[in-house]
Amino acid sequence: MVGKRTMVDNYQSMFPKVIFSAITAPMLFVLIMTVQMFQGEISEYHLGMTILIAILFTVIISFEISHYKFWTKNMSLANLLLSGGMVLLIAAIQAFSPTIDSIFYIVPIAAYAVLLNYLVHERFAMVSSVLMAIMGSFVFALFDSVSYFMNAFLYFLMSQWFAIFLYDFIKDRVSLFKTSIPLIVLHFSMVSVFQVRSFSDLLSIDFMMAIVFSVLSTFVSAVLILGLLPLFEAGFNLLTESKLLTLSNPNHSLLKKILVDAPGTYHHSVMVANLSESACEAIGANGLLARVAAYYHDIGKSFQPKYFIENQQNMKNPHDDLEPEVSADIILRHPYEGARVLREYGLPQEIIEITLEHHGTTLLKYFYFQAKEQNQEVDESRFRYKGPTPQSKESAVINICDSVEAAVRSKSNPTSEEIRNVVRAIIHDRLLDGQLDESQLTLKELRVIEETICDLLNGIFHSRIEYPDENDSKAVKEG
Ligand SMILES: [Fe+2]
Ligand SMILES: [Fe+2]
Repeated sequence: MVGKRTMVDNYQSMFPKVIFSAITAPMLFVLIMTVQMFQGEISEYHLGMTILIAILFTVIISFEISHYKFWTKNMSLANLLLSGGMVLLIAAIQAFSPTIDSIFYIVPIAAYAVLLNYLVHERFAMVSSVLMAIMGSFVFALFDSVSYFMNAFLYFLMSQWFAIFLYDFIKDRVSLFKTSIPLIVLHFSMVSVFQVRSFSDLLSIDFMMAIVFSVLSTFVSAVLILGLLPLFEAGFNLLTESKLLTLSNPNHSLLKKILVDAPGTYHHSVMVANLSESACEAIGANGLLARVAAYYHDIGKSFQPKYFIENQQNMKNPHDDLEPEVSADIILRHPYEGARVLREYGLPQEIIEITLEHHGTTLLKYFYFQAKEQNQEVDESRFRYKGPTPQSKESAVINICDSVEAAVRSKSNPTSEEIRNVVRAIIHDRLLDGQLDESQLTLKELRVIEETICDLLNGIFHSRIEYPDENDSKAVKEG
């Protein structure tokens, strides 16, 4: 019952955003078709059909968006700009259509789908591609010829879907143009098939122009992806793979700050990054996001590094001279100080959230029990992090790996069994304390995380080369 009410509440609070995002592209198409009706190019009947299809698509996309747990204002804006831009471009190119028959091949429609995939969501891009293909081919065909409409529709749809699949594997921007070659081949094949189907001469000017337009479409798409992606990333502070790779560069000023001011924390963060990335990849979560977020998660410690154990080598522990409450205040502050700095430097929201959540609402046991020794009535909540608890799988994995790394570090050469006991105890403790309740992790995934962390730690601790001792080496020489 409670679950149902929450879903309805969520939908009601999302309703304006959903409608706003879903209505954008269909509305623009209706506007274009209305203009064309007044110019005498289409009848009222055709406009009526366009309106019906627009309503149908508004409903379909509304349902699609309502399935997303986190549909942000930035996703709405990115969709509005991309849909609006593509619809206007189609309308502008269509103006040449009465004189050049094959002009629709030049529409760089692949860029629309690829950018939606990067900036919004893959499934949303797939669904929106269908809408853009149907509406786009209506605008070009104007209901004159069914085969012309079908050619345009198939070309637009296949181009977008293939591009979503194709450009999903791009790791750097240099490879973008190389990756475009299969798209050119697809365009070429489709143009050829359409020409053969309509019994046109394969050496006609029309065919040649169609080929040139389809190649240009791929080229313009690649340029648009290359040019617009960084603008969107910067404008909306969106998280993309290329942005994560940039943030993982050790030359970033914040990473340098951790290395210089808190070298122990830097080493800890790199270890947490390695553990978290592997664990996330093992459960199908975003390993790169986990790696990068782990690098930055303890940036808040770099303001008072000596109060954190990993930076206290060869020095007196400053907490020895402080009341437990004062010590707790200093330590409990670091996730929030960290989030503040990351916000100042414009890091993506996902990394800021992981920083805030990396201790959840856990208890600072050492200082709590120290305070309790002095005063039995001590308030436990005074020694807990303010949270929130991890809200995503990546956040929960970092939360676990953070504690595991700290616990294992304190052991000089732990056995496999000791490592497993530590990892298991930490996961168990987090579960019982309700820290993982909102992380969407399943028990099966927790088991996979445990296995992955143990394997990695065993590799680190037990791969040292065993050198023979002095007696053995003598024996070998004498032998
Ligand atoms: Fe921390
Ligand atoms: Fe940490």
